[in-house]
Amino acid sequence: MTAPLGFTADDHRLLTELRRDLHRHPELSWNETRTQERLERVLRYSGIIDVRRIARTGLVARIRGRDAGAPVIALRGDIDALPITEATGLDFSSATDGVMHACGHDVHASWAVGAALLLSRAPAAGDVLVVLQPAEEVGEGAREVLASGVLDGVRAIFGAHVDRRFAVGEVVAQAGPVAASVDTFHIVLTGEGAHGARPQEARDPIVGAAELIGSLQTIVSRRLDPALPGVVTVGVIHAGSASNIIPESAELMGTIRATTAVSRALLVGELQRITHAVAGTHGLTAEVLISDGTPAVVNSPDGAAWAAQAVRDVLGERALVPLGTTNMGGEDFAFYLEKIPGCFLRVGAREAGGEHRAAHTPRFYPAEDALFIGASVLAQCARVAGSPSSV
Ligand code: NI
Repeated sequence: MTAPLGFTADDHRLLTELRRDLHRHPELSWNETRTQERLERVLRYSGIIDVRRIARTGLVARIRGRDAGAPVIALRGDIDALPITEATGLDFSSATDGVMHACGHDVHASWAVGAALLLSRAPAAGDVLVVLQPAEEVGEGAREVLASGVLDGVRAIFGAHVDRRFAVGEVVAQAGPVAASVDTFHIVLTGEGAHGARPQEARDPIVGAAELIGSLQTIVSRRLDPALPGVVTVGVIHAGSASNIIPESAELMGTIRATTAVSRALLVGELQRITHAVAGTHGLTAEVLISDGTPAVVNSPDGAAWAAQAVRDVLGERALVPLGTTNMGGEDFAFYLEKIPGCFLRVGAREAGGEHRAAHTPRFYPAEDALFIGASVLAQCARVAGSPSSV
């Protein structure tokens, strides 16, 4: 592909090299120092000089609009990688053992730079803040960016994710929930240990844990409205040390996913209620710790309408496709959308003839052409949302 979507051949080379370099040198959440430096350098090289370091290992670039009084729009690209050993066989595969851009954030960082480039040449009405956000994978970066105050007063925010469920050229930009909330639970059941031959002297946390795991399955099947998506998964169970010992305690950990605040509260509340009830029937005490993670990603109606218009402008009506089933993964872009209207898009990243490969796996890679589509669509989102007629 040469010079598509408003990019020159030089842009194409610059952004492709940037993406491949970031891919080759992935960095884990909060350790994106080389990435930060590389992105800062490429922005300045491209003539975008108003660049500041924020949120420890992040950046914000301000691209001047045509009218100083027009509303400010934000675009966000996340930049961190995952603790996975790469097995794509790409010739720009990770040079760092055990770390890989397995979620496409190398492309997200590059398309944010591409959008900045396009907006510096064909500005939006108002200023555009291009945020290069660290630590998305641990659900912390967005909160840190918000805490920096850099987004105060912004009218709308847009971000996007590569997605191999969709072909290159397809884009999802729809209102409502598009990704789930992510909460983590940690349960400790405590009873009384005994010799394995004398269960009558014990209060057995293993039998309690076994029953609890079964009972937790009834939260989604019996308590949640079947029309709403939800997940309660036990991912860890630890108990015991020998075949003839009943241990003192058992530990369970897992994840809770929901797409609305009401269903999220229901799943958490039922998990607590059922855990204490089951523990009670076995004479155990239960300690339940819930760590609040990211909320559901809910696109606002106006944000989604602006984004859909941007997709039509750049790629035509036929590029817009429905999400289909809700993604039960999480995304810390949710924190921005709690405060600012906007839209989180999904950008098709499956090349012609390619198969689906899931993100967060060693063989995941997004088709490179998605980079230019993402950049162009995000830049256009800023122009549409910032235009004086968009109220
Ligand atoms: Ni991701």
